[in-house]
Amino acid sequence: MNYPLSGKVALITGGSSGIGKAIADRFTENGAAVVICDVSPKGEQLASEWQQAGKKVEFAQVDVRQTADLERAVSLAEERFGGLDILVNCAGIFPRATLADTTDALWDQIMDVNLKGVFHTCQVAVPALIRRGSGAIINIGSLNTFGGTPELFAYSTSKGGVATLTRNLARTFAKHKIRVNCVHPGWVATEGEMAVQQQQGMPDNWVETEGHRLPMGRVQTPDDIAAAVLFLASDDANQITGQFLTVDGGLSFRY
Ligand SMILES: NC(=O)c1ccc[n+]([C@@H]2O[C@H](COP(=O)([O-])OP(=O)(O)OC[C@H]3O[C@@H](n4cnc5c(N)ncnc54)[C@H](O)[C@@H]3O)[C@@H](O)[C@H]2O)c1
Repeated sequence: MNYPLSGKVALITGGSSGIGKAIADRFTENGAAVVICDVSPKGEQLASEWQQAGKKVEFAQVDVRQTADLERAVSLAEERFGGLDILVNCAGIFPRATLADTTDALWDQIMDVNLKGVFHTCQVAVPALIRRGSGAIINIGSLNTFGGTPELFAYSTSKGGVATLTRNLARTFAKHKIRVNCVHPGWVATEGEMAVQQQQGMPDNWVETEGHRLPMGRVQTPDDIAAAVLFLASDDANQITGQFLTVDGGLSFRY
């Protein structure tokens, strides 16, 4: 165990794949009970395998754009595991489009998942954290929060909103001992990112090859991000709130 989470209950959106799955893995390895929430049903199989391995885990098929789904997931955490202590907002989409290429429909789709989804998830989960007497929220932002690349125009803007939401809620809920922080990954080799690269016609080994050009010599793994999230979720971080933790292997040096 790195940071024990025994007795804690976590809800992780986007927990079926990539960074969210790695966070769910780290949390359960460190003793937490976890509700994996994802719009994709593949989390069902993951949860079943982890249950068989003795982990405390449930899956809820949740679209973060649907408040009723989120309410069902929070109820599951409370009924099955007795409460909710940790919320990780990780569900996200990152289709590429420049300013010129961004249609209203694409803008709305990205904002609905990446920003409004975080708003609604917090709105539904915070009362459960308050009932518990304390809590930790970790939002997954992005290095693109601080400007972003041209082809991630709407995405970067959505993540800027998540950063501001983080600080706003940290201030609002400090009196309830609820900490709210944001982890900014750099470039992570996840299922979602590899699929985008494939759609763009990049060769299979492109991400790995490009990674060699980064300051620390590689792209990040999902577990690199999960390690930082685990720390922020733990009691060792109990005086850290309203902060951004960038995990980018030095990528930001290039901006
Ligand atoms: N991969 C990177 O390089 C990178 C860099 C910076 C930030 N991020 C952020 O990390 C987070 C996770 O990304 P990833 O790379 O692991 O992607 P991923 O595609 O591997 O995983 C994202 C998960 O979110 C789920 N999801 C998408 N829309 C949803 C919705 N409406 N409701 C519920 N679940 C939904 C997907 O089904 C998927 O399981 C995202 O917020 C992303 O913006 C990723």
